[in-house]
Amino acid sequence: MNFIDTHNHVIPFVDDGAEDWQMSLQMLREAEQDGIAELVCTPHVISGKELAEEDKLIDQFELLKQKAEKAGIRIKLHLGCELYVQPSFDFSRKITTLAQNGRYFLIEFPMSLIPTFVAQHFFDLFAKEHTPIIAHPERNGGIILQPNKAYEFVQKGALLQVTAGSLLGLFGSQVKNIAVQLMEANLVQIVASDAHDIDRRKLKLRRAFEYVAENWGTERANLLFIDNPQKVIKGQDIELGYFQPIYTYETSQKSFRDKVRFFFRR
Ligand SMILES: [Fe+2]
Repeated sequence: MNFIDTHNHVIPFVDDGAEDWQMSLQMLREAEQDGIAELVCTPHVISGKELAEEDKLIDQFELLKQKAEKAGIRIKLHLGCELYVQPSFDFSRKITTLAQNGRYFLIEFPMSLIPTFVAQHFFDLFAKEHTPIIAHPERNGGIILQPNKAYEFVQKGALLQVTAGSLLGLFGSQVKNIAVQLMEANLVQIVASDAHDIDRRKLKLRRAFEYVAENWGTERANLLFIDNPQKVIKGQDIELGYFQPIYTYETSQKSFRDKVRFFFRR
């Protein structure tokens, strides 16, 4: 296969990902064996400080490319970053968008909630033609409580990137359940590894690809692990197809209340 991974922490010494060069190269070797042909390195960027010092990240990335080549690893490497959500972003920086495509950027929310400024902020970004890809929505407390928030984001033009391990139950049944609901509603455009190491959070996609192919078909799996990630790297449009809201108990209660109100108004 020619999987493309658009989220991982394979560059060493820059965040909580690979601990040293040996681990980085081991992650890349395993990725190659797993069928990954291309990837975007996405180190954590928590604040403007890291963006201001992006040259350090770029140097580490260039070093990784050299070492991988020397080790005979044939994966094509690109650079981007995983941006912790902020009230503003500096798009003049090279690493802000994935593979320097000038369009898609990977964004991470706090684990427990969706910040209140996100809705308006995202809307402003679309006007400037930058498209946010929300990393692991299935692991965000705000979306776990109200899965339909994910639908609202896609409606507004954001893309959703689910972590491969979430679909396989690595983060527990609640997270898996949300990931499956997002898949069922066709709200997921990309699956990525979010790999951090060689133990628990590996740089692998094949098992999740097979799980998606088994449950939603090979065509959908190809789209989420190969075709859409390729478009992300190239900065091309991604077709969403038909997607729908997530009908939880809460949303069905709300629509029932709306129906009752409507009936009495008449
Ligand atoms: Fe990450």
